[in-house]
Amino acid sequence: MPNVSARANIALIKYWGKRDSDLNLPAAGSLSLTLEALETQTSVELNEAEADLFFLHGEPADANATARVSRFLDLIRARGSRRERAIVKSSNSFPTAAGLASSASAFAALAKAACVAYEVEADDRELSILARQGSGSAARSVFGGFARMHAGHQPNGNDAFAEPFEGSKLTLGAVIAVARTGAKAVGSTEGMERTRETSPYHDAWIHQVDADLEECQLALREGDFDRLARVVEGSCLAMHANAMAARPGLIYLGAPTLWAIDRVRQLRAQGLPVCFTIDAGPHLVAFTPLASMGAVADGLKGHPDVAEIMTTGPGVGARIEANPPAGASQ
Ligand code: PMV
Repeated sequence: MPNVSARANIALIKYWGKRDSDLNLPAAGSLSLTLEALETQTSVELNEAEADLFFLHGEPADANATARVSRFLDLIRARGSRRERAIVKSSNSFPTAAGLASSASAFAALAKAACVAYEVEADDRELSILARQGSGSAARSVFGGFARMHAGHQPNGNDAFAEPFEGSKLTLGAVIAVARTGAKAVGSTEGMERTRETSPYHDAWIHQVDADLEECQLALREGDFDRLARVVEGSCLAMHANAMAARPGLIYLGAPTLWAIDRVRQLRAQGLPVCFTIDAGPHLVAFTPLASMGAVADGLKGHPDVAEIMTTGPGVGARIEANPPAGASQ
């Protein structure tokens, strides 16, 4: 029974908007950093039962999550010759569905574990294409370090995959100010569709992404942190401005998020190389060189609604592990 680990990633240049929602094709590219501490472990065991079973942290998952996993397994079964149902066991090293990109690590790990279990041969590019169909950001978690997602043009999505981005002179880690809230109010799929359908800013947002991707890659290659900070924060704030302009508007930022934005900018003004991004939830992620992670973590302490500060370096891509997942037994 294959046991696979994958780590979540956080985008420096954001993905927000699909060109095809059935195949989960992004309307624009994105660029992310895979993070060591945000790990999912998943095992897939073929089974003669009538339905797929999905256990999260040792407990049977709810019907929606199980249906999503089962639909994903259908994609894998359609590519191979084995048709059995499966028992999927998964556990995360971090809070699930708190807006911390758990779907990215989940579907990257599931894609690889399921391909092994169903004897489907897939190289990393094919795994990225498969993972994308579970969750857009999962395409990037197949890879370690920085990953660049291509939007592609083909209607079948065969050119919509991620690949490693090499040549950065900056080695970055992340300091995450975890806000004291539960699961996000409007998930990314629904949020993206609402934004595409109703935000007057959406075309301008999509149009800007290519230039931001170029700028981000240049800043990383040149090791120019100030340049990086400008484009990373610009991409994040433009994504949120676009989402806020949807009707009804999507507000993912909370009071501790705004407080943390201000802190990051104060720390940078004091000379620390640090910049922020925020996904579809209230947690702020600060990117900073590894040597500054401690100082940034200290600087982000002190708000009553920041429940926890996590620090993590870059992580590796999806890989097969020798041992069964901890806590995944039922
Ligand atoms: O892959 P999804 O559907 O979880 O969407 C990810 C959306 C953001 O996290 C907000 C941005 C990104 O590029 O990861």
